[in-house]
Amino acid sequence: MALAPLFSGTLTVPAIAAPMFLVSGPQLVIETCKAGVAGSFPALNQRTSEGYAAWLDEIGSALSAHRDAGGRPAPFGVNLIVHKTNPRLMADLTITCKAKAPFVITSLGAVRDVVDAVHSYGGIVLHDVISARHAEKAIEAGVDGVIAVSAGAGGHAGTINPFALISELRPICGDKMLVLAGSISNGGAIAAAIAAGADLAYLGTRFIATRESLAQADYKDMIVASGSKDIVYTPKISGVAANFLVPSLVRAGLDVATMEPSKGMDLEHEAKAWSTVWSAGHGVAGIDSVLPVGELVQRLVAEYAEAGHRLTAYRGTNP
Ligand SMILES: Cc1cc2nc3c(=O)[nH]c(=O)nc-3n(C[C@H](O)[C@H](O)[C@H](O)COP(=O)(O)O)c2cc1C
Repeated sequence: MALAPLFSGTLTVPAIAAPMFLVSGPQLVIETCKAGVAGSFPALNQRTSEGYAAWLDEIGSALSAHRDAGGRPAPFGVNLIVHKTNPRLMADLTITCKAKAPFVITSLGAVRDVVDAVHSYGGIVLHDVISARHAEKAIEAGVDGVIAVSAGAGGHAGTINPFALISELRPICGDKMLVLAGSISNGGAIAAAIAAGADLAYLGTRFIATRESLAQADYKDMIVASGSKDIVYTPKISGVAANFLVPSLVRAGLDVATMEPSKGMDLEHEAKAWSTVWSAGHGVAGIDSVLPVGELVQRLVAEYAEAGHRLTAYRGTNP
């Protein structure tokens, strides 16, 4: 177990709000960090590298002001897609280093040069993985921790049960950080992740249904109205298997049963696909309202404490 010092003493609940394409913007990140959960966003949520730099400035200034006013915000992170079809990677990495983003989440590729660049200014790198093999490769590339993306997660989910994945990855990670993702939408599930051996929990879908997310109102309402039966896992939309809201496919006139499979993965095609259909994980189950981030985090903190009491009470009756 090894929570990086960056996160120590700033979190009200041990969690990161995950980066989400077309969903996470500066307001979501700022309010999340102020409430004591680490916020993050994908660099590609801004159309240009210049726009990305402007968002980093906006977030950095807001969190500095909060600090100056006596607050202790959680750190924020950015997501860089390390894939040959991302033409902005090098420009965005340079901007990330200049702004000294406290942590970087890399997806699709773990590359030593990217890790070294982030380490050069004191940042840390967490890398998304869905299997033990991916985790081993990321650790070889020098990352500071892995994010175990299990079955049922929003976005490019894995297929492995979270309890199995965490048991498999904990020994591989050793003293590196291990973050667990997949359908974690309340404080009890955050507590379960920590009890199972994670250093932090990673929440995506739950943060779509917040006042500050960039998702349109219909998308937020669909999350509240949906259950796990409304989620389909398919590679047919963008070439990489991901979880999508079935009602959003129906609205777009798509039926995965009869659709032709998408041809391979490229980011341009992927961006188009995700703007017409909406992604969410099985964690839609139990999301009952769209909340301001501050209120959501208060609720997560209370649920996390309740889960702790349940664990202690059980131990008390079973010495
Ligand atoms: C709408 C949506 C967009 C996402 N976009 C990205 C992304 O751009 N980069 C990334 O690394 N992960 C992305 N993800 C995955 C999340 O970062 C995270 O792994 C996932 O949401 C966690 O599972 P949960 O949604 O069940 O909480 C996305 C997920 C969703 C739901």
